[in-house]
Amino acid sequence: MKTLLVTGGAGFIGGNFVLDALARGGARIVNLDALTYAGNRDTLASLEGRSEHVFVHGDIGDAALVRRLLAEHRPDAVVNFAAESHVDRSIDGPAAFVQTNVVGTLNLLECTLGYWRELPLERQDGFRFLHVSTDEVYGSLGPVGRFSEETAYAPNSPYSASKAASDHLVRAFHHTYGLPTLTTNCSNNYGPYQFPEKLIPL
Ligand SMILES: NC(=O)c1ccc[n+]([C@@H]2O[C@H](COP(=O)([O-])OP(=O)(O)OC[C@H]3O[C@@H](n4cnc5c(N)ncnc54)[C@H](O)[C@@H]3O)[C@@H](O)[C@H]2O)c1
Repeated sequence: MKTLLVTGGAGFIGGNFVLDALARGGARIVNLDALTYAGNRDTLASLEGRSEHVFVHGDIGDAALVRRLLAEHRPDAVVNFAAESHVDRSIDGPAAFVQTNVVGTLNLLECTLGYWRELPLERQDGFRFLHVSTDEVYGSLGPVGRFSEETAYAPNSPYSASKAASDHLVRAFHHTYGLPTLTTNCSNNYGPYQFPEKLIPL
């Protein structure tokens, strides 16, 4: 059975991902969520008493906590949904977005890198750090048009700028340190949680 450390798994997309992954079977999920205004544990009520789901109330920016969870649960992947995610709130208060989306993601990457480096080689190969981002890093579309992975980054709000910064850090951790990272720029046009399942080693 694979173990995933999922962050933000009490949120809109993360919560559905957790329910879906556990319904399929074959996964154990450690769900780290700070339960901000956007987190809702009721989404996870049906998982009460399920040993494959461990809920941890905490912050992705808490290095001691993240290191302890990695050491205790030895995950095969980290799936990072945790974020400040609402554009309007980012216009009113951008600092919280930089704190969670940039500084928090950096902390998660640093802790994960330390953990991954200590794994046996065969487990290092299969490990993934999957970062969930947004199509908004590419800018704004009119009534027509589409983005692809080749589209230049052009974030237009503090929210998308903070997500773009986190994407760049995730990419840099792969190129600089070899950490096996992936970023999916999911869009709400595709439905709430339809992103490439092949990216996640279930
Ligand atoms: N909802 C969309 O339409 C959409 C579209 C594209 C991309 N995304 C991205 O997908 C991801 C998930 O989006 P969502 O709609 O589920 O977001 P959401 O706001 O509904 O949920 C975010 C979750 O993260 C948690 N969280 C916030 N700060 C945290 C922290 N510091 N530490 C731990 N947990 C924290 C919250 O409590 C909440 O449960 C985000 O990264 C977002 O940028 C969302």
